[in-house]
Amino acid sequence: MRQIGQNIFEVGAIDWDRRLFDELIPLPDGTSYNSYIVKGTVKTALIDTADPAKTDILITNLVGAGIQKIDFVIANHAEQDHSGSIPAMLRIYPEAKVVTNEKCKNMLIGLMGIDENKFIVIEDGQEISLGDKTLRFIFTPWVHWPETMSTYLMEDKILFSCDFFGSHLATSEVFVKDKPQVYESAKRYYAEIMMPFRGQIEKNLEKIKNLDIKIIAPSHGPLHDEPKFIIDAYKKWISDDVENKVIVAYVSMHGSTKKMVEHLVNTLIEKGIGVEQFNLIGGDVGKLAIELVDAAGVVLASPTVLTGAHPAAAYAAFLVNALRPKIKYLAVIGSFGWGGRMVEQLKGILTNSKAEILEPILVKGEPKDEDFQKLDNLAEEIAKRHKNNKAYVNRKGISHGKET
Ligand code: FEO
Repeated sequence: MRQIGQNIFEVGAIDWDRRLFDELIPLPDGTSYNSYIVKGTVKTALIDTADPAKTDILITNLVGAGIQKIDFVIANHAEQDHSGSIPAMLRIYPEAKVVTNEKCKNMLIGLMGIDENKFIVIEDGQEISLGDKTLRFIFTPWVHWPETMSTYLMEDKILFSCDFFGSHLATSEVFVKDKPQVYESAKRYYAEIMMPFRGQIEKNLEKIKNLDIKIIAPSHGPLHDEPKFIIDAYKKWISDDVENKVIVAYVSMHGSTKKMVEHLVNTLIEKGIGVEQFNLIGGDVGKLAIELVDAAGVVLASPTVLTGAHPAAAYAAFLVNALRPKIKYLAVIGSFGWGGRMVEQLKGILTNSKAEILEPILVKGEPKDEDFQKLDNLAEEIAKRHKNNKAYVNRKGISHGKET
């Protein structure tokens, strides 16, 4: 239990050991499920709960904070890492009502079988009084589900934003201390679940623009007592600007594709292009997602397996398609033994992408002089695009928590 204000406590759980979320998202630094008690002079609210695996810690913290009665359980989001302990809360505090929006209510009934009579459904902008404290509900959809909302504690100027502005980071610090570390964790989190919804996030940022916010209290990672730090980071990530950076994501079976990759990467570096060479075998896909947030383009490099792309390259294409990064161009390079339809297959996966597709380079067996020449031409095409378009140029902004 950690106090964050007068009669305001964080009572959730730090999950130091969790290494995978949704059986998909790597968590190199663990995570936390923040849950907040707000005690008013008349009523007490619990804002979000915890992952079901950590219900016991939530209960221990509530006992430690001396909470004998909860009137409202505010559900900002239906996903189980925040709502999974609601059934236990309703058993322990039978007088409590779940306060949420209509969409979230229906999800909670479906996911957890919560009795319909236990809900108070609120509208966007509605307020409830706890006595000397007031909660206002602000719908902030698609960060990252359609029902997501934030709760603003008006008197204390705290925005409880749930996943929005969160970071998968287990830390004993209540507030952000190590800015570069939190920037990286928050960017990873944004990349993995928020990036496809840039347009919606822009609307949500606009919606909270005029709120007087002293603290942003997300439900993962440390709290922001300098809200500008994380709001500016989000503004940068959702903008159309990209950096002078290309991701070369590759897999190679017998070395031919790797020779192509190394030649291309070296040529790009010589031309002053920033490159992230990413081996798709054993690599941390969260790292790849982070780079996708502001890369100008992606080169997918793959050998041919059973007439198609290597499954690792197909997975990378699937990821790029799902995360919808703001990349401006895409290219496919690789090798084959006797033929195949790798390029068509990868293009078929990338149906969401609006990026320009550059001329592919496919090599039979080992790359030869003429193939290296084609790679030089591709590097030149990439360099031209970085030079000629303002959006490709490095912009002044926050990078890794520092002004650059
Ligand atoms: Fe942290 Fe979307 O749950």
